[in-house]
Amino acid sequence: MDLHLKTSYILGAGLLGLAALVGMTYLLSDNPESTPETASLANLVASPPKETFAPIFAACAHCHQIGRGAQNSTGPVLTGLIDRPAASTSYPFSKAMRESGLVWDETTLRAFLSNPHKLVPGTRMAFAGLKDADITELLNYIRSVRSGE
Ligand code: HEC
Repeated sequence: MDLHLKTSYILGAGLLGLAALVGMTYLLSDNPESTPETASLANLVASPPKETFAPIFAACAHCHQIGRGAQNSTGPVLTGLIDRPAASTSYPFSKAMRESGLVWDETTLRAFLSNPHKLVPGTRMAFAGLKDADITELLNYIRSVRSGE
């Protein structure tokens, strides 16, 4: 009886020890795969091009792409926009935009981005408008992006 109890204790302790050992081995071997570094590297590899846009472009990135590999989406590509006539790229622009007669310089872009529908009534760009300070930052960004970079 006594001996039986002792054996059970020893067996029990042995099992606990084994469980702890297995647990530790599991934790140690599992950890390297879930470090933040590994996770963010995986995200980087899988991320779409818009991840490389400047934060100020986020308001436009729903519909526009810019820079390397940019393609028309809901809206036209905006690379090389400054000093280009409106509706002059291969994108199915609205009649309103095609007939606007605008050239996208500092003045016209400021007017358009603060209130698209006021400058080009009937434009398909469904966007409410930006504040002046944001427009300044945005135009600096658009100017800084060149195709193929
Ligand atoms: C909800 C979608 C949407 C958002 C958001 C949006 N746009 Fe547009 N944008 C469009 C569409 C659609 C057109 C084409 C308009 C047309 O043909 O009337 C357009 C056209 C333009 C044009 C004219 C381009 C050309 O070549 O004539 C400019 C400039 C422009 N967008 C800039 C911007 C900027 C800068 C932002 C961010 C502040 C922005 N847009 C946000 C959809 C969007």
